[in-house]
Amino acid sequence: MASTVFSNSDALQPKNPQLEPLELNPSTGEPFLRVEGFDDIIITPLRWEDAPTFIPYMNDPAVYSWVSGPPVPYLPSDAEQWCNRMIPPQKATLFELEKARDQPALITLNACPVNSIRKVNDDGTDLFIGSVDIHRVSLGELVLGESGEYVVDMSRKEENQKRNEEREVGDPDIVWEIGDYLAPSYHGRGIMTSCIKTILTKWAVPRMNTRIVRVSVFSGNIGSQKVFLKNGFKHIATLRDHVVVRGETRTLEVLEWRLS
Ligand SMILES: CC(C)(COP(=O)(O)OP(=O)(O)OC[C@H]1O[C@@H](n2cnc3c(N)ncnc32)[C@H](O)[C@@H]1OP(=O)(O)O)[C@@H](O)C(=O)NCCC(=O)NCCS
Repeated sequence: MASTVFSNSDALQPKNPQLEPLELNPSTGEPFLRVEGFDDIIITPLRWEDAPTFIPYMNDPAVYSWVSGPPVPYLPSDAEQWCNRMIPPQKATLFELEKARDQPALITLNACPVNSIRKVNDDGTDLFIGSVDIHRVSLGELVLGESGEYVVDMSRKEENQKRNEEREVGDPDIVWEIGDYLAPSYHGRGIMTSCIKTILTKWAVPRMNTRIVRVSVFSGNIGSQKVFLKNGFKHIATLRDHVVVRGETRTLEVLEWRLS
């Protein structure tokens, strides 16, 4: 990798083999994944101090128009809530890896300890530019109908979500979901396409035994659909007028990826 991203040859302590394929920042010890095809983009855990950087992204219509979860306007208290939701589980995953340090085989995990996309500067500092996280899917109402096509059955939503949540770690039938956004000034450079490929191939498949990923994208979000299609996802359903987001009824396009 070019001068921008640190080499691990001078790491302070021997790396825990369970971290594979995460690398460690030699100055801070922070784990990271390299993003394929980019010399200066990495994915790390979220940091408490990231909030002031990502609040403006969440208040930009180029981002919030296409996501349903975060409130608008997005306030410091919302950012704090997001950090509280993300950081402790990421630390817990890293702790689980540390506890397994001496196990001869790589353990399988229920989560990915990194989500924060960062641009690394020549001096080693970095800038938070987006997020990509993988978690169990919440679209339990999407069921396979008798015709072999996916249909909506709201009466099955809760039961399906519960079953998906209860599956054992490493169960290949777990359905996962990816949530992502990028700072507007970095859109359209191929970054998210590569970040999703990185998360899937470097972590989700080998370390979580992920076999199925299902994502829902607002109709009209061409960029997001392209990102997933370019990563091998297939369009499986259009859910017309399915959700109300900030008072507006939105149609969802559902795309699915299966490990072939
Ligand atoms: C969706 C998003 C993550 C895409 O990230 P990105 O790094 O800009 O995407 P890429 O550069 O990898 O683009 C992949 C393809 O989509 C195209 N694309 C990207 N943004 C686009 C847009 N707004 N309109 C049309 N096409 C777009 C790219 O040109 C590229 O196509 P190509 O390979 O044919 O040239 C980013 O635009 C974003 O953060 N949007 C707001 C939040 C969001 O929509 N999150 C996803 C919710 S499901």
